[in-house]
Amino acid sequence: MNILILGSGGREHAFALKIADSKLTDKLYVAPGNSGTQEIATNIPININDFEQVKKKSLELGISMIIVGPEDPLVNGIHDFFAKDKETNSITIIGPKQNAASLEGSKDFAKKFLVRHKIPTARYATFTRENIKEGFKFLKTLTPPYVLKADGLAAGKGVLIIDSFDEAKSQLTEMLVGEKFGIASSKVVIEEFLDGIELSCFVLTDGVNYKVLPTAKDYKRIGEGDTGLNTGGMGAVSPVPFANKTLLNKIEQNIIIPTIEGLKKDNIEYQGFIFIGLINVNNNPKVIEYNVRMGDPETEVVLPRIQNDFVEIFQSFKNKTLDKIELNIDHRSAATVVLVSGGYPSSYNKGIKITGIDHVVDSTVYHAGAIREKENIYTNGGRVLAITSFGNNFQQALKNSYNSASKINFKGKYYRKDLGFDL
Ligand code: AMP
Ligand code: GLY
Repeated sequence: MNILILGSGGREHAFALKIADSKLTDKLYVAPGNSGTQEIATNIPININDFEQVKKKSLELGISMIIVGPEDPLVNGIHDFFAKDKETNSITIIGPKQNAASLEGSKDFAKKFLVRHKIPTARYATFTRENIKEGFKFLKTLTPPYVLKADGLAAGKGVLIIDSFDEAKSQLTEMLVGEKFGIASSKVVIEEFLDGIELSCFVLTDGVNYKVLPTAKDYKRIGEGDTGLNTGGMGAVSPVPFANKTLLNKIEQNIIIPTIEGLKKDNIEYQGFIFIGLINVNNNPKVIEYNVRMGDPETEVVLPRIQNDFVEIFQSFKNKTLDKIELNIDHRSAATVVLVSGGYPSSYNKGIKITGIDHVVDSTVYHAGAIREKENIYTNGGRVLAITSFGNNFQQALKNSYNSASKINFKGKYYRKDLGFDL
């Protein structure tokens, strides 16, 4: 069958490599794609949030399955758009419909879901500009630091963690009244700070059955020692070494099963990935967020460890037979190191020539913000490449990726050299 992947990051390159490998794939397209996907698929230069355009291309190319990489087309309702239309309703969409995507698109929706289904999460309350004074009162009931979250999508920037009460009050005002994150902060979730170590778990569901995928931990801050601004992610490891059987069992019993059952009880159809962000507080995992897609760069360590035919997995969604599939997981560790443009996540230059990718032999180089022009590859974004390696433990996997990272060069290249420091 012909398959279309939507997105242009390292995540989509990782999906493309898996899908290109499947015996069930005839032609593979990626929209808009990058220099990495271009090597194994055909890139389609369209706006993936313009659903009419995606539909037109899909019909033209005889697409039978669309894998949605990032969250915004899902939150904007791409699945509903294709399902409602007679010309496109036979195309399998990997990613949930709009109401389910609210688990990521609205923090308030996600918190209500968590509380309704008794899934462990931080204590919270939601405020608008109308009841901002109540918000100030609620802040008083919490101990610092204060966690303020814009309700809507804010490109990963909508969460503020603030030490002082006065600053929290003033930021709450900025968000609700000053529209700091535009419409996304017209509602703000304030929640209790959870002190612990973060990890992510990934679940694939056809709406009836689910499979738990390998865990991962990403590193969001730009600076070593987890300092400085938040980024999309500077690297990741899988599995998470402290996620032992007992913890994984707690996560499945207290979080994953109630999530899948909660979706059913609420009559929310869901097919696709659920990415659950967790904080482990004294061995009690609590949910900090749901994402309705895979993570980036987590995908670049989780997917390489899954040895199954991904098209076969996705095809099982049609008849809801995911339970018939047995996952075949590589038990080695995988680690990815993200090379970014100097200046990222603030301003940075694009169009800088990248050399040395061909010298890498022991790792997979996933392209992200990278573009090909004739014979050369140039930077085209903040996160440029993600370098994934295997090892018998995460230290060895990281060492292999760092070794490969040193072979690749572009002016302004930066990467964190301390990944795994906290494990
Ligand atoms: P989110 O977008 O909800 O995942 O939040 C972004 C980041 O903020 C998370 O990865 C955590 O590092 C941090 N965070 C969010 N909520 C909390 C919380 N309740 N307590 C401590 N840290 C949090
Ligand atoms: N790496 C975090 C995310 O994809 O949201």
